[in-house]
Amino acid sequence: MLLQIPNVLSAEQVAQARQVLDQAAWADGRATAGYQSAKVKDNLQLPEDHPDARKLGDMIVAALERNPLFMSAALPMRVFPPLFNCYHEGQSFGAHIDNAIRQIKGTPYRVRTDLSATLFLSAPEEYDGGELVVEDTYGTHSVKLPAGHLILYPASSLHRVQPITRGVRIASFFWVQSMVQGDENRALLFDLDNSIQAIMRATPDHPAGVRLTGVYHNLLRRWADA
Ligand code: NI
Repeated sequence: MLLQIPNVLSAEQVAQARQVLDQAAWADGRATAGYQSAKVKDNLQLPEDHPDARKLGDMIVAALERNPLFMSAALPMRVFPPLFNCYHEGQSFGAHIDNAIRQIKGTPYRVRTDLSATLFLSAPEEYDGGELVVEDTYGTHSVKLPAGHLILYPASSLHRVQPITRGVRIASFFWVQSMVQGDENRALLFDLDNSIQAIMRATPDHPAGVRLTGVYHNLLRRWADA
């Protein structure tokens, strides 16, 4: 499931992030790449333990926790502390699949990367090229979103960032370990959750609403790690 989540950050929060990132001490993005992806990766990143990255990352995670669409779609167990990248003209990231397991630096914790997320921090007018291209069984999807919006997709997908032909593209990216490992199961639960909410809005007192909510939780109980 490929899902756009609008307005994860407000315009003020995007401006706050950009104020920091526009003058940040960027480093070579190959620092966090595996052996294969290092060969196709050409961008800049904030070091994982950079205080600015941690401060802005905490703001993003707090925003995600308040976002019902993210919570329902991702069913997060653990969110990798958000990282930040920057592509200048001519830079790109060729086709790759993200590493399955990520160690959170300076901690004993690991994240199994079930979902990948990109939070756009540059407005689409600020750059040309730079689309995130995700391939799944339904085809190839090209994604470029307004600043503050997020795309969530299965981390098992082959994806790339197209070369920038003008301007600068700044984004945050991170991974989520979900309580429900399988994408298909997560998609079913998301669909069921949305459907129950729509039914309950239309007919709040229908007795089947309680039973359907029970079905949701009984499926979650069957499929989730906690
Ligand atoms: Ni990637």
